Amino acid sequence: MTNIPSIRKATPSDIDKLVQLRLLLQQHCEESNPMIWRMTEEGKTILKQRVQNELSINNSHVLIAEVNGEIIGSAHGEITRRTDYTPKTVGSMSTVYVVREFRKRGVGALLVKQLCELFDVEGVEDVTLRYIIGNKEAEAFWRKLGFKPIITTAKTSLKELENKTSSMNT
Ligand SMILES: CC(C)(COP(=O)(O)OP(=O)(O)OC[C@H]1O[C@@H](n2cnc3c(N)ncnc32)[C@H](O)[C@@H]1OP(=O)(O)O)[C@@H](O)C(=O)NCCC(=O)NCCS
Repeated sequence: MTNIPSIRKATPSDIDKLVQLRLLLQQHCEESNPMIWRMTEEGKTILKQRVQNELSINNSHVLIAEVNGEIIGSAHGEITRRTDYTPKTVGSMSTVYVVREFRKRGVGALLVKQLCELFDVEGVEDVTLRYIIGNKEAEAFWRKLGFKPIITTAKTSLKELENKTSSMNT
């Protein structure tokens, strides 16, 4: 038996496990920042369909990390081609997740490395991603890999915004 992780492309038989990992990721994100939107029960049901779509779309790559045949992590990459902005070919990475017992052993970096290889073949120039402010693991992980924040997503409730605007001298 070896504890060295191997990376492979996900297949339809992995869907249930992938959904399980996505739910763990969602839980991790919700715990990292109480302000983010919560997934509903319906969202959890739709998730399976979403993962199935990711596996069937041409420009999408879903990778699995395994140790001794056990799935311990996954990552999703998607390629966008466009003519109205430059760079014209960009890759996005999302839903990178490694189960707690296998973290800090290079598995996340290995998943990203393999996505990079797939992106390279397709002529990707820039790589983009989103992570939750307060998700300490993600902040450190992506910073280590050279990512720098360029856009901030902010939110408030409509009620709070109305209170603020009505108290302004306009
Ligand atoms: C983020 C995550 C995928 C990292 O996976 P991992 O396998 O633990 O990461 P690696 O071991 O490949 O770490 C690579 C580098 O990232 C940094 N890093 C990773 N986790 C870190 C942590 N918890 N604290 C500080 N630095 C960390 C380190 O610099 C590390 O390099 P080093 O070990 O040589 O110092 C994992 O922590 C995880 O699944 N977290 C929960 C889900 C999540 O937040 N996913 C990201 C969604 S955007």
